[in-house]
Amino acid sequence: MLKSEKSEALTKRFMDMYPGGHSQLRVPMDVTNHRLFIERAQGSHLYDVDGNEYIEYNGALGPNILGYCVPEWTEKLKEYLDKNGTAIGSNLLFSPYDIEIAERLRKYIPCCDQVKFTMTGSDCVQAAFRIMRGVTGRQVIIRFEKHYSGWYDNVLGGRCQKDPNARPTADFSSEGLPEGYEYNTLGRSIYAGEEVFMLPWNDFEALERTFEKYHDEIAGVHFEAVVANNEMLYPKEGYLEKIRELCDKYGAIMSIDEVITGFRVGIGGAQEMFGVTPDICTLGKALSNGFPVACIAGKHEIMDKIRSKILVPGTYSGWAFGQVAAVTTLDILAKDNFACYDKRNAVQEILMDGLVESAQRYDIPLAITEAPGMFYTVFGVEGGRSKFYMEEDIADFKPEMVKVFQQYLQEQGVFIMFGGKWYISMSHSKEDIEKTLEAADTAFKKMKANNLKYVAE
Ligand SMILES: Cc1ncc(COP(=O)(O)O)c(C=O)c1O
Repeated sequence: MLKSEKSEALTKRFMDMYPGGHSQLRVPMDVTNHRLFIERAQGSHLYDVDGNEYIEYNGALGPNILGYCVPEWTEKLKEYLDKNGTAIGSNLLFSPYDIEIAERLRKYIPCCDQVKFTMTGSDCVQAAFRIMRGVTGRQVIIRFEKHYSGWYDNVLGGRCQKDPNARPTADFSSEGLPEGYEYNTLGRSIYAGEEVFMLPWNDFEALERTFEKYHDEIAGVHFEAVVANNEMLYPKEGYLEKIRELCDKYGAIMSIDEVITGFRVGIGGAQEMFGVTPDICTLGKALSNGFPVACIAGKHEIMDKIRSKILVPGTYSGWAFGQVAAVTTLDILAKDNFACYDKRNAVQEILMDGLVESAQRYDIPLAITEAPGMFYTVFGVEGGRSKFYMEEDIADFKPEMVKVFQQYLQEQGVFIMFGGKWYISMSHSKEDIEKTLEAADTAFKKMKANNLKYVAE
């Protein structure tokens, strides 16, 4: 039984002062009655204020690629801070690390000739939109349903109105968006997303039809190559190539959102994994192992236009402390010819296979959808390790079963992310995996015994 006295007291005070918490897209408290207040984090382990220890798989929502408090990383940052403080950066005082990071990105990211730094993923998606529009002189950005790309007004929705055959949906929405012509998931029209068309993912026909009809207006296509924010839906064979082909044909810009996949699925991101090179991409999260650092990387002929006519300013953009974090992260990942990726992938394989085997033992319907460095436990869907492409493929998904599983895991000291998403870091060890699989087996057993419900002991 975990202790929770101190966390509960802090939760009460927190709730009074922080409406909705920090990133409130999904609320962690549906698993416990309190939030986890962390006192110490080391490698793949978290220690909360009540003295509980957890093996963690939430990756701090994705950035934590190396693991927490990796000595080589923290030493480098401490050294930089001691020498320079924090004020270097933002186009007045430059740092040699500006060059170091840009050169590494050029080497690792296939589409990268030039870079533009921002602070967060949401920022750099805005910059990508502006670049696509500024360079082409067109307005419309094509996106796909359930591809989360940040919280700004124009990406929390969009329309398909101009295409009568396409489904008019947007999946992440909010009160408080400026209203206009079209609609969001709350059934209202939103103004800011007016020039964003939302298409169903993996629908070749909808994409072709939209391009045929609106190609004079389409500035670009922005999307995750594998939908890390929605059950890891894969691109169908030839789909990324089709996007590439249509962008080339009609002079639109292809922009892959690599905020999650960048440096996680491999050093060259999803574009390297799938062998399809976009014109630009957005990077963040794992780039710096947890600092607010993001960037757009892209081809010279597009990026160089920023120089003269496209404004993407920011007081903190390119802050040197962030650049140091990014260089240090990439250098640790690159050691011994990127050996850490193979080690991590091997550990992830054992974990995924073990979960499938264990679920089968207790007749729990479970599918696992995966990309290197992350996977989803999709409860309610049969099939073990699987690739899915469309929403319809996972129509039987039962999020409530994830929650029950998560509750049983967490009380045994295993902390996974909401929605059944698991991030694997370079610090996860075989021992972590063994312990996790033991906890998972107990969780499945209890689910079976309690009719798929959570029963506290
Ligand atoms: C694919 C993708 N793009 C963009 C963003 C926005 O990044 P940030 O939360 O750093 O603003 C996210 C955040 O989760 C993301 O998953």
